[in-house]
Amino acid sequence: MAEMPLLQVRHLTTEFLLPGKGAARALEDVSFDVYPGQTIGLVGESGCGKTTVLMSILRLLPTQAQISGRVLFRGLDLLALSERQMREYRWKEIAIVFQGAMNALNPVMSVGEQICEAITLHGLMPRREAEARTGELLELVGIPKERGVQYPFQYSGGMRQRAMIAMALACSPCILFADEPTTALDVMVQAQILELLGNIQRKMGLAIVLVTHDLGVVAEMCDMVVVMYGGKVAEYGPVDRIFNNPQHPYTQKLLEAFPDLAQPVASLASIPGAPPRLSELPPGCRFAPRCHVCLPQCASEAPPLLEIAPGHFSACHLCKS
Ligand SMILES: Nc1ncnc2c1ncn2[C@@H]1O[C@H](COP(=O)(O)OP(=O)(O)OP(=O)(O)O)[C@@H](O)[C@H]1O
Ligand SMILES: [Mg+2]
Repeated sequence: MAEMPLLQVRHLTTEFLLPGKGAARALEDVSFDVYPGQTIGLVGESGCGKTTVLMSILRLLPTQAQISGRVLFRGLDLLALSERQMREYRWKEIAIVFQGAMNALNPVMSVGEQICEAITLHGLMPRREAEARTGELLELVGIPKERGVQYPFQYSGGMRQRAMIAMALACSPCILFADEPTTALDVMVQAQILELLGNIQRKMGLAIVLVTHDLGVVAEMCDMVVVMYGGKVAEYGPVDRIFNNPQHPYTQKLLEAFPDLAQPVASLASIPGAPPRLSELPPGCRFAPRCHVCLPQCASEAPPLLEIAPGHFSACHLCKS
């Protein structure tokens, strides 16, 4: 692709310092790119570090988190900025719909007022203009602007999620992180929210990083996919390549667990065993204890993430570049 990536995540490593227990390494050496207008899926079992990736990039983690590596936004390393400088990028360039966000609306403030406050908080425009902008944002996410005066309890779950998306779009970012935006919504509403994200993306030229458990959603929505396991990237590349020709044994098992992509989420339980604990990470490949094609070296040597075909990366000793 000739275009420059908007975001280049390089060797992102995040540790949580736990008092009296040392450091828990939640992410290690995570690298991927986000190009303008692209959708990237971030998948992997619960606890593999998906949310931590997004929160590390936005520097929204608590102070006991130590982040290293580089997060280049249009070539500028966000991790090297002061908190004050970072505020020019967070929300304005990269915004996030948090995991479970739709339950985070203030119950005693009208939804429109909350969106309006988000706009004025960033000092983008005076109050009167912010009110007009609130109406536009509501309409953009498919909520009639008259309903802005209503309170969150008067909204359905899907509408509350739409309102959170409107809030994330308040500063017209160029990248939107959506952390499991459809979890806890029924299947019909899930489809509507995903359609909304697709429409907004086309209208605004947004790049989206979509965290999901649902590989069917990835197949439908994403251009690229990052498959994570135990805080590391197992496989990364174009969606069609990875779905048709998965190279990492974990990706293969993950795809086997979703035999019919037209059906909603199945269980990952068909991969025997459990992901590693952060306090007891195996020295070699983190997937080795559960791997069906494990080699002797896998227990001791961590496989590097290799480019096995143009733009297709896999971290497995069985994969040859
Ligand atoms: N503030 C924190 N302090 C200590 N450990 C944390 C903190 N936040 C996350 N972790 C740990 O980091 C690991 C990755 O968590 P994360 O929430 O990123 O996973 P996830 O892939 O988003 O999971 P899920 O699919 O359940 O949302 C987990 O082991 C988690 O316990
Ligand atoms: Mg999460």
